[in-house]
Order: sequence, then C-alpha cells, then structure tokens
Amino acid sequence: MVDLDRLIVSFDRGLRTLFAPALSVRAVPGDELPEAEMQPAQREHAAALMRVNHTGEICAQALYQGQALTARSSQAASALERAAQEETEHLAWTERRIEELGGRKSLLNPVWYAGSFAIGAVAGLLGDRVNLGFLAETERQVVEHLDGHLKKLPAADEKSRAIVGEMRMDEARHATSAVDHGAGDLPAPARLLMRVASGVMTRTSYYL
Ligand SMILES: [Fe+2]
Ligand SMILES: [Fe+2]
Repeated sequence: MVDLDRLIVSFDRGLRTLFAPALSVRAVPGDELPEAEMQPAQREHAAALMRVNHTGEICAQALYQGQALTARSSQAASALERAAQEETEHLAWTERRIEELGGRKSLLNPVWYAGSFAIGAVAGLLGDRVNLGFLAETERQVVEHLDGHLKKLPAADEKSRAIVGEMRMDEARHATSAVDHGAGDLPAPARLLMRVASGVMTRTSYYL
C-alpha cells in the first residue's frame, strides 16, 4: 500500500525538482577552470549535451522517487531517497553549466519526470530485488551514456568535462551500492527496453 504521506512528499519533491533551482553541497567540479574559448556552434553543442544530462538527472530523480514510493522494504525506500538526495547535486551542476553556456533546460522535463516516475513506481511494485536491479542497470547505462558524452563534448570545454567526469564516478558508485544492497539482474528484454526509452529521451532533449 502506498501511504498518503509518502505520496504528498513525493509530489512536493517533483514540483521542486522541476521548478526550483537545485542546490549542491559539494563544490561544482571544474569550478576553478577558466571558461573555454569556443565557436558559437561548439558552445551550442556543449549546451545541448548538458541539457541532455540535466534531463537525465531529472529522470533519475523521478525514477528514485517513484521507486521509493512503492518500495517494499523501508531500507530500500530510504536507500533510494538517499540516492535521490545525492543526485540533486548533479542537477545543480548541469543546471548551472547550461546557464554558463547560454543554453536552456529541456521544455519537456515535466513529461520526462511524469513518465520516469511511473516507471519507477512500477519497478518498486516488483519487489526489492527487481527494484534495486533496475536502479543498478539504470546507473550502468548512465555511465555508458556519460562515456559517450566525454567523447562528444568539445575538447576545449574542460568545465563541462569536469562535471560529466565527476558524475560518471558517482553513478558507477551508485550501481555498486545497489548491487551491495541486493540488486538482481534484469532480463535482457527489460534492459533493451530501458535503452530504447533513454535513447528517445536523449535524442529529443538534445533539441527540445
Ligand atoms: Fe546523476
Ligand atoms: Fe546515480
């Protein structure tokens, strides 16, 4: 059973994730680095990539909140809530970098949030092993995605690279911690479906 208090708390979190500026306790990676000189097209490309990463973090928030809402055990729920808390730093870093690059956040973030929240809630209903397995697989796919971005970002844009590099390390750690908490392996079709869904999100938010 989903209790009403948890539902209200996650609704409030959702609104804050989407509409309030995120805060970071840690220093923004690469803050000390100078701003790179880039051609306008390169700068736009970097901003679009960081928009994709910001939307990815919006989705991560939504997944974790959805998963925490329906998680069977309170340990799983609190592990998920803690993870979501940590991810707010990624939101703050990408948000700030988009601004510095003169870009904007994805217009479709509320849609991605709602969809991801629903997927997370379904994962939570399937029991802790699947729920944590879903978390671990999400993080593994995010690590691969960020590796791709480290190749695509303009070489000169060290500030964006520092942020993506730090996020990559955090996500890899999140995957390991999910496994330590008892994550099971997801079946291949589920992993494929996740790839397809995140592919739609990343390709769309590059432009929108
Ligand atoms: Fe993240
Ligand atoms: Fe993560």
